[in-house]
Amino acid sequence: MEPLVIGKHTVRYPLIQGGMGVRISAGRLAGHIAKNGGVGLVAAAGIALNSGFYNGKNFFQAEAEAFKEELRKAYEIAPDGVIGVNVMVALSDFEPLVRAAIEGGAKVIVCGAGLPMGLPELTADHPDVALVPIVSSLRAAQLIVRKWRKTYKRLPDAVVVEDPDTAGGHLGEKMEKIGIGEYDQYATVREIKTFFQDEYGVAVPVIAAGGIWDRADLEHAMAEGADGVQMASRFVCTEECDASDEFKQRYIDCKQEDIGLIMSPAGLPGRAILTNKENIREYDLDHHTPCRMGCLKKCSYKESGERFCIVTALDRAQRGDVDTGLVFCGTNAWKSDKITTVRAIFDELFDNL
Ligand SMILES: Cc1cc2nc3c(=O)[nH]c(=O)nc-3n(C[C@H](O)[C@H](O)[C@H](O)COP(=O)(O)O)c2cc1C
Repeated sequence: MEPLVIGKHTVRYPLIQGGMGVRISAGRLAGHIAKNGGVGLVAAAGIALNSGFYNGKNFFQAEAEAFKEELRKAYEIAPDGVIGVNVMVALSDFEPLVRAAIEGGAKVIVCGAGLPMGLPELTADHPDVALVPIVSSLRAAQLIVRKWRKTYKRLPDAVVVEDPDTAGGHLGEKMEKIGIGEYDQYATVREIKTFFQDEYGVAVPVIAAGGIWDRADLEHAMAEGADGVQMASRFVCTEECDASDEFKQRYIDCKQEDIGLIMSPAGLPGRAILTNKENIREYDLDHHTPCRMGCLKKCSYKESGERFCIVTALDRAQRGDVDTGLVFCGTNAWKSDKITTVRAIFDELFDNL
């Protein structure tokens, strides 16, 4: 299997670890992924929560500080590794977090949950930082690429194609369009590759995300035209994952039918373990807790108290309260059957290839 080249950076294996917000992928997981030869991503969303930086009042400042601290921890584990970040465009502090990522030495910036139209401007003084949008359609890729090319004379260094039918967390598709057999992940991968070739005469790596679990899935993705894979749920049940033991145990205990879709206050559907759906919603309502952090640009909980506070629900789960907390996962999470290590997963995926 060929190494994966993303801009100026090369990793031995064609694997990016999917960013998992609210401290599911913080410095420890990202560092170990990078150490084993993949791209490790620290996710920005809610990184201040359950960190020493947040005092209940300084959320945005604490986000930037905690983010840099997790990057530092990741580099301590893998000093020469390719360590990057995932920053959701939907976050209120998207721009400061991109700047903090650069200050923290991120080599790759992956952005989803919105179209990162102005990203190259934020990183203009750091041309070695690779820029990677996440999309679910050719149209979204075209919008970003054409804007970047025209305004900033720059193309993405890779594109992640996230499959709404299988991926975990927030999904870039309407609720009613998910899981109806219309979406074709690898057709989208190939369309985007062709678009780069036809319009710009270049081969930009296109990475498949969603539903990739084992070596057979990886080989299938590569055979279908992907240049690499982004995997998230598979790495939750590792010793190195930054989530609580209870969060990981929820993956091990869950059944396939427990995994489903929930409407996030961000206005996007999300995939999660739903056995405690009512408790998630009722928690905030029972405690009469108004929005405290304003973490999202657009949020129905912030604006009108609708649904639930997503960042605190994810934070509760990250800390171990999986009764009232929200456990995001991809459709394959039920396949987790034990706590393993990042190294063991890399061995299974790549040994003797
Ligand atoms: C617990 C969890 C949290 C996630 N958080 C984020 C996030 O903060 N930002 C983002 O772009 N994607 C997020 N995702 C999506 C993943 O990065 C990834 O693209 C997707 O889950 C891939 O599918 P897989 O889990 O089947 O491998 C999250 C996924 C999970 C399971």
